[in-house]
Amino acid sequence: MSKGQEGVLPQGKEQENLLVMLERAQSEFGYVPEEFIVEAAHSLNVSISEVYGVATFYSFLSTKPLGKNVIRICKSLPCYLKNSQMIIKSVEDEIGIKPGETTPDGKFSFELTNCIGACDEAPAMLINNDVHVNLTPGKISQILKSYK
Ligand code: FES
Repeated sequence: MSKGQEGVLPQGKEQENLLVMLERAQSEFGYVPEEFIVEAAHSLNVSISEVYGVATFYSFLSTKPLGKNVIRICKSLPCYLKNSQMIIKSVEDEIGIKPGETTPDGKFSFELTNCIGACDEAPAMLINNDVHVNLTPGKISQILKSYK
């Protein structure tokens, strides 16, 4: 990579390799540890900030340890127009944390994410790999109970 390209996300094959490495770390550790970011930068010969940029760009990657169950509520416009704010509030009330936080017992992490491809059944959320749609505040408590 030339000097003029520093700070730009890796492209093409380089980015593919990096994503594969980051996904493996995410699956193995449950997040992408700082030390892994440094090692990946060295092995791919890119800057640490480039690797960090990729690791923080994708919502399926996390640079901090997450809880056993990861709740991701869609924050994109179609869900917003179907009252996703009410769903976010319901989850906050139910588990006592805000987006970006993890419960003290480590059972839940709560994140907001971009569209998860369920816009026609908005508002939608993911819990781990499970998609939940047509959400209402009344459904939230019941859904979360099944993950406790
Ligand atoms: S906008 Fe929410 S799932 Fe697509």
